[in-house]
Amino acid sequence: MKELIELVDKHLDEYISVIYPEDIFKAMKYTLSLPGKRLRPVMCLETARILGAEFEKAMPCACAIEMLHVQSLIHDDLPCMDNDDFRRGKPSNHKVFGEAIAVLAGDALISFAPQLIIEKSVGLSAEQIVRLLHEYTYFAGAYGLIAGQVVDIESEGGKFVKSPAETLNFIHLNKTAVLFRLALRCGAIIANAEESVINEFDDFAKKFGLAFQIYDDIMDEISSFEEMGKTIGKDKLSGKLTYVSLYGLDEAKDKFNHLIQECHGIMSKYESRIFDEILDKLKHRIGSR
Ligand code: IPE
Ligand code: IPE
Ligand code: MG
Ligand code: MG
Ligand code: MG
Repeated sequence: MKELIELVDKHLDEYISVIYPEDIFKAMKYTLSLPGKRLRPVMCLETARILGAEFEKAMPCACAIEMLHVQSLIHDDLPCMDNDDFRRGKPSNHKVFGEAIAVLAGDALISFAPQLIIEKSVGLSAEQIVRLLHEYTYFAGAYGLIAGQVVDIESEGGKFVKSPAETLNFIHLNKTAVLFRLALRCGAIIANAEESVINEFDDFAKKFGLAFQIYDDIMDEISSFEEMGKTIGKDKLSGKLTYVSLYGLDEAKDKFNHLIQECHGIMSKYESRIFDEILDKLKHRIGSR
């Protein structure tokens, strides 16, 4: 896992050069280069490997997905969204570069990422590239990530159109699970996997994504800045709809554990050390409290 993360870090750095106007490239590279967990690119690479592709084939796409994720973090932290001053242990993008450049850095990352898939992918057919771009544009937009963020913001303070439980599921599946779905589906497409296999990995990613956002909701309640690298306790302050606010801490932990168990079940036949390590690490963090 450590070697994979280092490889991802190296490529992320190499893919973006700082040219005129330097501020935008520096802002893009700033949040990108801070120590994130790199879960989405690692899971994309590992899916491709498990299903038989050389993982170099998946590197541009894996890095593109991390760029999209980082865009979502930069915009999520803006004063008009969650208004968070810290990210990955350091001041948020807008705290360093100002709001205008932070908005533009996010925008630039959204379009840089698919450009990377087109320009840097090697050994993929034109059909595969189009399919990756379709997955990317679908999940990045108003059918995916954006939809989740919209309902997340709108539900602050208890504004619901659907029931709270349905709303919460919609938020978590869209703001969070879609990027894991994107990562695993793209890994499988790069390996030319059968549709049934893509669906199996997609099912894993939905469950994992939901578990991961429940984990994040729990950590926002019980963790520390040192552990998470971001402000803790903000969900409650802003009246966010989360697993903890709706079901309480114990039920949220039960739901998380159940989903992780299901993820282990789906992945067991592939005997992936990387997936096992990711699932075990999250489980350990919640379980040890
Ligand atoms: C943060 O994601 C946003 C959520 C979906 C909770 P990560 O916890 O994966 O953030 P980094 O990439 O490690 O900073
Ligand atoms: C995670 O939502 C989803 C996105 C950032 C798109 P949060 O708002 O809970 O993420 P953190 O806690 O700020 O990382
Ligand atoms: Mg948010
Ligand atoms: Mg946030
Ligand atoms: Mg959170």
